[in-house]
Amino acid sequence: MSVTPFILLALIYKICEVQSHEYYKAGFDYPYEFLDDEERSFREEFGREKRSNHPNCPGEILRINNGSAARENQFPFVVALMRWETYPKITDQFCVGTLLTLSFVLSACHCLVEGEIKYPHTVVEPPSIDILAGAVDLLSYTQDRKKVEGCGQVREAWDIFIHPKCSYQNNELVKDFGLIKTKTPFISTPQGCMKPKHFPADQPDHREVVNNMTENEEFCVTMGWGLDAEGFASSWLKTMSMTLKPAKWCKEKILDVTKDQVGGPDIFQSDANICALGCEEGETICMGDSGGPLLCGPSREFVGVASFGPGNASCGNDTIPFVFGRIDGHEYWIWAKIHNESKHDSASILNFHARSMVIMAMVLVIKDTLIL
Ligand SMILES: *[C@@H]1O[C@H](CO)[C@@H](O)[C@H](O)[C@H]1NC(C)=O
Ligand SMILES: *[C@@H]1O[C@H](CO)[C@@H](O)[C@H](O)[C@H]1NC(C)=O
Ligand SMILES: *[C@@H]1O[C@H](CO)[C@@H](O)[C@H](O)[C@H]1NC(C)=O
Ligand SMILES: *[C@@H]1O[C@H](CO)[C@@H](O)[C@H](O)[C@H]1NC(C)=O
Ligand SMILES: *[C@@H]1O[C@H](CO)[C@@H](O)[C@H](O)[C@H]1NC(C)=O
Repeated sequence: MSVTPFILLALIYKICEVQSHEYYKAGFDYPYEFLDDEERSFREEFGREKRSNHPNCPGEILRINNGSAARENQFPFVVALMRWETYPKITDQFCVGTLLTLSFVLSACHCLVEGEIKYPHTVVEPPSIDILAGAVDLLSYTQDRKKVEGCGQVREAWDIFIHPKCSYQNNELVKDFGLIKTKTPFISTPQGCMKPKHFPADQPDHREVVNNMTENEEFCVTMGWGLDAEGFASSWLKTMSMTLKPAKWCKEKILDVTKDQVGGPDIFQSDANICALGCEEGETICMGDSGGPLLCGPSREFVGVASFGPGNASCGNDTIPFVFGRIDGHEYWIWAKIHNESKHDSASILNFHARSMVIMAMVLVIKDTLIL
């Protein structure tokens, strides 16, 4: 990780100290109306079943093929973060995010800061980032930034909020969360290709639920446009299955695979992070998948944000677990931030981001196969 930080999430504020449901009651745009649709798409997806022979997930019923192409509308909350200076190349995609409302995207802190990952963070210039939502194929993002073929919509980032405790120090990456506010909200479409992810703000026992999921090695899915193990970029959103692993196992395994690393082993911090192993041969997350959601259990609960792979050679190695920042315990920061920032909409519209643009070199492309 220290050598190739294709760091992929995290933040603990004060767990449940503040009643986040007060924010819900306060009436910000919490996507409750999407529950039914979500339930529907979940049924469709879980209707396809197959058993895994892989030792990571023996006998596990796979609802999704290994590293398969996502279907249109399968994950209508997943967005691609594009760095538009060099477009139109699919490698402009550098990270993934999740729509929480029609104007807020949750992604990884390390996708959105430059220089050292520690407080006070230097945040990337918002106008240098485009958010592509509602599209599974990056090639639908055309040279004209505002125009997308098919169902997709593009918005410019307007503001970026980094969890104040996001830090990468002594080989330990924690609170790897960042929120992006779009310049204008996305427009909800009747075709079902764009829907924020339902994400409960008020779950007093969320931490225990997620701890239990890790102990029970719960089945999960994640998705992204990242590179494959050979360094090829994909224009089509890919999804893969994983199982959560217990915290103790994660800690030991990550220490073991990175113990000989120059600069010392990577540290797994179980309060902030969870780890998961791919269910199929060679299946891992990789460069460019950072910030994507980890959805676990039969109700596909949003439990983590893709953060990093231990060591410098974890892409494509399914024996190495991947680390996700855990959302439980961070609900308050996320929703309070969204609430606060939504309140001041009319005032913030006057903020003008006129600073120079920056280039984020998160994605290391070995072979650039698909260039427009
Ligand atoms: C977590 O697991 C323990 C032991 O199986 C159980 O007693 C507890 O009710 C579970 N907690 C939750 C919130 O599911
Ligand atoms: C995967 O990682 C393990 C642990 O670092 C290593 O022993 C093994 O050789 C790697 N496998 C491949 C195919 O690189
Ligand atoms: C990756 O890490 C291993 C073990 O620490 C080290 O021997 C190797 O030189 C590193 N490779 C690169 C490309 O940095
Ligand atoms: C899925 O994994 C199996 C082995 O587990 C492999 O034979 C097959 O080629 C993989 N399919 C794809 C599309 O990668
Ligand atoms: C929201 O705004 C209030 C009042 O300005 C402030 O005290 C609080 O820290 C803010 N919360 C977040 C998460 O930014």
